Amino acid sequence: MKEITDKKIIVAIDGYSSSGKSTMARELASRIGYVYVDSGAMYRAVTLYALRHGMIDNKRNVDVHSLVAALPGIKISFARAGEDGVQHTLLNGEDVEHEIRDMKVSENVSPVAVIPEVRERLVSLQQEFGEDKGIVMDGRDIGTTVFPHAELKIFVNASAEERARRRLKELLAKGEDVTYEEVYANVVDRDRIDTTRAVSPLRKATDAIELDNGAMTREEQIDWLLDKFNKAIED
Ligand code: DC
Repeated sequence: MKEITDKKIIVAIDGYSSSGKSTMARELASRIGYVYVDSGAMYRAVTLYALRHGMIDNKRNVDVHSLVAALPGIKISFARAGEDGVQHTLLNGEDVEHEIRDMKVSENVSPVAVIPEVRERLVSLQQEFGEDKGIVMDGRDIGTTVFPHAELKIFVNASAEERARRRLKELLAKGEDVTYEEVYANVVDRDRIDTTRAVSPLRKATDAIELDNGAMTREEQIDWLLDKFNKAIED
């Protein structure tokens, strides 16, 4: 019995933008006492760095050469969850959790995430986080590229309309001045770029379990996930 309780696994949760995978992943990690890593936050932090340093123009052209040269000096880490219960993303030690979620970063993150050198660096950092297992990581390529041997892989989906509605609600709650049409266009655009890029495109790993959470409550999703986790840990 001891062996079972001590066993730690890697849980990889992939899916489309705004599919609610981060909320599910964070909640699962907190219930089972695992570390949670939001890999999308890492791509967002690199994008924020590039925006701040004038490396992306208003047509979303990235100065790849300068960004790749700057990569060794871009340090990304996570601070423990504070009073809000959310783990904050740090860029060179600065808390950028709020800034990386705004529309400006969302609109520019896909062209940054297609750069092979950016992916290489972030993937190796993500693999380091998972060295001791006991981790839940969410993203686009976690089950396919970062942890192809993860014991439990989930692929979350929901329609683009449903995902845009959820994202709009979040952004309005934060006081951002956006419309449904803008958010929907961003969701569809990111889906297109994420699924068609040459390096690690978003796709379901063949051994991932698919979940369409469009009609599920948060509680139903976490129950579903806990059930899959309990089965994976018994294997
Ligand atoms: O999950 P998110 O929407 O915060 O992710 C932001 C962007 O980062 C998304 O448009 C695609 C990219 N991303 C990626 O390419 N690979 C990952 N593992 C996670 C995110």
